[in-house]
Amino acid sequence: MVDLSVNLGDIRLDNPVIPASGTCGFGLELAEWYDINMLGAISLKGTTRDPRFGNALPRIAECPSGLINSVGLENPGIDKLLSEKIPALRAIYHKPIIANISGFSVEDFAFCAEKAESCPDIDILEVNISCPNVHGGGMALGTDPEVAAAVTRAVKQVSSKPVFVKLTPNVTDIVTIARACEAAGADGLTVINTLLGMRIDIRTRKPVVAAGTGGFSGPAIFPIAVRAVYQVAHACRIPVMGCGGISTAEEVIEMLMAGAAAVQVGSASLVNPLACKEIIEQLPVVMERLGLKDLKQLKLN
Ligand code: SIN
Repeated sequence: MVDLSVNLGDIRLDNPVIPASGTCGFGLELAEWYDINMLGAISLKGTTRDPRFGNALPRIAECPSGLINSVGLENPGIDKLLSEKIPALRAIYHKPIIANISGFSVEDFAFCAEKAESCPDIDILEVNISCPNVHGGGMALGTDPEVAAAVTRAVKQVSSKPVFVKLTPNVTDIVTIARACEAAGADGLTVINTLLGMRIDIRTRKPVVAAGTGGFSGPAIFPIAVRAVYQVAHACRIPVMGCGGISTAEEVIEMLMAGAAAVQVGSASLVNPLACKEIIEQLPVVMERLGLKDLKQLKLN
């Protein structure tokens, strides 16, 4: 009998698999497919101060081994998250809830974090300073270490919850940003969000997504995510949720060996809504094959 549990800071997860923000709506969408209480935790769709319609259509470009999205943070706003979405999820789901907050300024993040403080059902705040699909905020706040630190500090000042900052890979040195967030008080990091990408329709000579560019995710980015997690986990003391292109139980273990404490599965669920369930079911099989009794402290030789 193997032990799938992991520790994400002070929070124990029954297993390390977490659907990534933006790939499971507000949780109930996945509950149509299987009992979501089998998940390690859930990260909800990125939520902003005010409701947002998101970017113009089309927003998705399929690519070999991945996809580009330019959703643009479509969401119902923080008030509706707290009054409707989380209560509806909590009624059927008893494991940790990660609320992902986004914004266009330091004040936006502090506003959402302060509101979230009133919600006991939020177990972790994920601070998304890495969305590549909006102007004047999102990723722009996560590419400068001082700004990333300012957002982290502002959130920590108003929040007693564990704060995980979600980092962008679209920087020269992700470790500098990670260290700045850690020094500003982050309790953990999510590594990585999507890579900025673009496709062009050669018949129309227009970008495939209306916004022109979008965030590239899927199996193609897995090696980049492993590298980033390895670098950040070995440079920081706070726990890392590894994210980017994971679609198999073997890749979960690889990400944990790179230094992640838990993992997020994103695009795989968009291709197969049962992806997280199947990965969790497969984990004991792969662990037994590798002679692993548990998933804690997996290290490179
Ligand atoms: C989006 O809503 O555009 C995606 C969110 C993200 O990449 O952080």
